[in-house]
Amino acid sequence: MPKALNVGMIGYGFMGRAHSNAYRKVNQFFKLEYQPVLKACAARKEDKIKAFAENWGYESYETDWRKLVERDDIDLIDIGSPNNTHKEIVLAAAEAGKMILCEKPLAMNVAEAEEMVAAVERAGVPNMVWFNYRRVPAITLAKQLVDEGRIGKPFHYRALYLQDWTIAADVPQGGQALWRLDASVAGSGVTGDLLAHSIDTAEWLNGPIRRVCARTETFVKERVHAETGKVEPVNIDDACMFLAEFANGSLGTFESTRYARGRKNFNTFELNGDRGSLYFDLEDPQYLQYFKYADPKTGQKTEAHLTGWQKIHVTNFEHPYMDHWWVPGCTIGYEHTFINALADFLKGLETGTPAQPDFRSGLRTQKVCDAVLQSAREGRWVEIE
Ligand SMILES: NC(=O)c1ccc[n+]([C@@H]2O[C@H](COP(=O)([O-])OP(=O)(O)OC[C@H]3O[C@@H](n4cnc5c(N)ncnc54)[C@H](O)[C@@H]3O)[C@@H](O)[C@H]2O)c1
Repeated sequence: MPKALNVGMIGYGFMGRAHSNAYRKVNQFFKLEYQPVLKACAARKEDKIKAFAENWGYESYETDWRKLVERDDIDLIDIGSPNNTHKEIVLAAAEAGKMILCEKPLAMNVAEAEEMVAAVERAGVPNMVWFNYRRVPAITLAKQLVDEGRIGKPFHYRALYLQDWTIAADVPQGGQALWRLDASVAGSGVTGDLLAHSIDTAEWLNGPIRRVCARTETFVKERVHAETGKVEPVNIDDACMFLAEFANGSLGTFESTRYARGRKNFNTFELNGDRGSLYFDLEDPQYLQYFKYADPKTGQKTEAHLTGWQKIHVTNFEHPYMDHWWVPGCTIGYEHTFINALADFLKGLETGTPAQPDFRSGLRTQKVCDAVLQSAREGRWVEIE
């Protein structure tokens, strides 16, 4: 029997749209007991949230998220609002017994994230952080290849997350999307916004990071604030580079910036082990590159004249998630990562095995982000507990 799951979506921006699309499509492509219903959405500007509700087919809307959280006809609260709103909404939603899906980064800092984990665990409500890149089929395939032992003993992990949209000094801070440049709303700059994704993927594929040594930079030191109209100091990190030691003994380098001219959403990683290597690039997301040096079961080396990188087009039915989509050779895109993630969350409700990453896993990423920022401030290596 299908079970209706009444969704209360907070925020109508980039993620409000990506998540709403996922709720509308998930049951068309995945066989699931739970069926999301677009019950209500919330944001402060009435004209905007009303138009959003009409466009996506929400039955109603609120102009205060607290009203949404108090409603008896809402089962799940989805947080697609800026980072400084996450904690307060999570505490209220957990208290009200709602399931919670929260955008990344989970919180502004570790202290907030710990409170949020305690709240959902105390209330016993299902929860997940939208680290959607885990659900890019090529990245899920990377995880499968690691688990199959195809990389062997890992030596190096190398991640880049590069953009170029804040180079102009006249880009303001504050307001829709630009809240990312205001540290009081975002918590941090590229570390929380972009590297949080890279860290989540890295720890998923290569295990926990033990310690980090970082350097950050703010290239444009003052910007007009869209809300006050005044020129104000910029307190976010525009760029962040850090070295990492993983608990498995491998070494990592991570780099992120919004000042890499020509790079739009260049999210890549490479993992090198004694049996093989993997490489992924989000701007070419259908492919996973794999170099096979030796077979994981027999240890037999690939014949020397046949060695080379394989560029695997991740669209076969045998590839992660792809049996839910089109025929082999036909690609899927960015929006499907949210649909895949939602399908996993709903399957988790059905089977009783919660989907990951849950808030506790999001806290782990937050710990690495905070350690990176602390290391940059103090100019030294910082251990992660
Ligand atoms: N998973 C991803 O890949 C990904 C991508 C982009 C953003 N995000 C995360 O999603 C969240 C939202 O980012 P976005 O890009 O959608 O931002 P956005 O600026 O496009 O949208 C933010 C929305 O939140 C609403 N909002 C702001 N303050 C509010 C409040 N007090 N109460 C209710 N609504 C409020 C705004 O009206 C707007 O609709 C952030 O945490 C961000 O880090 C994640």
